[in-house]
Amino acid sequence: MKIAVSGKGGVGKTTLAAGLIRILLDKGFPVFAVDADPDLSLGTLLGFSEETIARLKPIVEMRDLIAEKVGGSTGFFTMNPEVEDIIRDFTLVSGQLRFLKMGAVKKGGSSCYCRENSVLNALMTVLVVQQEEYVVMDMGAGIEHLTRGTARGVDWMLIVTEPSRVSLNTARTVKELSQDIGVRRIGYIGNKVRDENDREYLVQALGGENLLGCMPFNTSLLEESRTGVMDRSFAAVAGTLEQIIEKILHSEKP
Ligand SMILES: Nc1ncnc2c1ncn2[C@@H]1O[C@H](COP(=O)(O)OP(=O)(O)OP(=O)(O)O)[C@@H](O)[C@H]1O
Ligand SMILES: [Mg+2]
Repeated sequence: MKIAVSGKGGVGKTTLAAGLIRILLDKGFPVFAVDADPDLSLGTLLGFSEETIARLKPIVEMRDLIAEKVGGSTGFFTMNPEVEDIIRDFTLVSGQLRFLKMGAVKKGGSSCYCRENSVLNALMTVLVVQQEEYVVMDMGAGIEHLTRGTARGVDWMLIVTEPSRVSLNTARTVKELSQDIGVRRIGYIGNKVRDENDREYLVQALGGENLLGCMPFNTSLLEESRTGVMDRSFAAVAGTLEQIIEKILHSEKP
């Protein structure tokens, strides 16, 4: 089961991804967590220490490694680099959890990121098409890591949205992009939902059948995000996360 999480900046993608990973681990499943967000905070929420995370450079920034994988800095380079050993060498392991800090190619500037992209695409293929276990990817606000080739390997694209117009607009755009590249199942998750009005607003805007669940607004989530641990706050959203996981695990193949 391969799950990707996306949505507008700050809506709660990393919180949702970390929560779902924890539920899956609690159920005894092995999980491969991938941080593909340029902001890179999933690892801390999963319980790895800041020092450990800091020592692990995002793959996208390892220019030497990338050059070695795809060919030198000039001339031709291979479009299909071997990346299994990157996964082996740069993955943090904690019990049943494996964690890969992938990073994202930052947009802008005049440099060509073809090499970086070709390594990230190869990594994505291995992660979503070849890995056996549960893979949960925090995609950040963009889904450009996914290509037509890898999108078909994603079982669920979860799009997080707050009950606000701007966040809904981004959510709808992500849905269209996901459909365009061939992601098979797409579901919305409402977050920071304060009351029944908020929930009803999301149901009206998205259609109840597309809304897999709503996480309540919870001040301890906000407080605990400053220290980077989910403790009391996890208990507050665990019920909702459990329901979402049940829906996902029992979904039919389209
Ligand atoms: N249900 C909630 N109730 C209260 N605060 C929340 C809730 N969900 C997330 N938050 C808080 O909102 C902030 C943003 O959450 P998070 O980092 O998960 O969002 P994100 O979408 O990953 O952001 P970014 O786009 O920057 O990667 C954090 O401080 C987090 O603790
Ligand atoms: Mg995030």
